[in-house]
Amino acid sequence: MSTDRTRKVCIVGASGKLGRYMVRHALDRGYDVVGVCRERSVPKLAPFADRITIVPGPTNDRDVIRTAVAGCDGVLTVLVPWGVRQYSSGTAQAVLDHADPSARLVFSCGWHIARDGADRYSWRFKAAVRIAARLGRLVRAVEVDDQVEACRRIFASDRRWTVVRGSDLEEGPSQGLPVWSRHIGDPVLASNLTRRVDFALFMVEALTDDTLVHEAPAIVGRLTPSAQTHAGDGPSPEAAGNPATSAGDPPE
Ligand SMILES: NC(=O)c1ccc[n+]([C@@H]2O[C@H](COP(=O)([O-])OP(=O)(O)OC[C@H]3O[C@@H](n4cnc5c(N)ncnc54)[C@H](OP(=O)(O)O)[C@@H]3O)[C@@H](O)[C@H]2O)c1
Repeated sequence: MSTDRTRKVCIVGASGKLGRYMVRHALDRGYDVVGVCRERSVPKLAPFADRITIVPGPTNDRDVIRTAVAGCDGVLTVLVPWGVRQYSSGTAQAVLDHADPSARLVFSCGWHIARDGADRYSWRFKAAVRIAARLGRLVRAVEVDDQVEACRRIFASDRRWTVVRGSDLEEGPSQGLPVWSRHIGDPVLASNLTRRVDFALFMVEALTDDTLVHEAPAIVGRLTPSAQTHAGDGPSPEAAGNPATSAGDPPE
């Protein structure tokens, strides 16, 4: 299950909330860490400044990414749909093109990214995504469709990728590694809530978990009611961390 060869990781989007949690988890594991963030956000990484290498610049800048990922065994990328300049797909493409061919690539996104047509969304969820996408486009601040395009390219790639699909997030102390499932709508995910620190934990753990290669796990906090009720569902003996494959009610 574990490749255990990870020594140096690049975190693309290191200055955000998820990114800084990932920096901490990666340092805790003894990895050498390279962080990429926008120039203006470098001060947000001040608490780690003497322990990590910072490459300032836009995450969709191919030269910035080429420099940052050089020699990295793993690349953790925060995919965000900000702006209307194909920021997500540009970031994903730069990582896919420039990371070492054998590197583990782990990308973050939300439940709205569908993988294989078997995800089942509630009307409420779909409506919320549609409204957010339209409003974001209207004010030219958010490009949800581009995050979808970024993931389409990742799914089509033969790189060693994992796309982690986060539920709604909250702050708070760690509850441990989230539970995951292959499909939105599986009952184990119904609580739709994960601590951000644990989302980051799942991303970093995925670096050394080869069972997650070419998977798009949808995650939920392991102490949420749905996880506690349904984590044992499904055929896998490692059900606490593995997919519950049975069908269930879509999340409300
Ligand atoms: N928020 C949620 O409820 C939620 C739910 C499910 C999944 N997710 C996923 O979780 C991941 C992290 O999201 P988050 O909401 O928790 O935010 P976050 O960790 O704070 O990350 C936001 C990232 O976006 C960057 N950013 C902000 N404004 C930008 C702009 N105008 N142009 C370019 N980059 C900009 C930030 O960089 P700076 O530090 O430079 O500002 C930071 O790297 C994303 O992949 C998201 O899809 C989020």
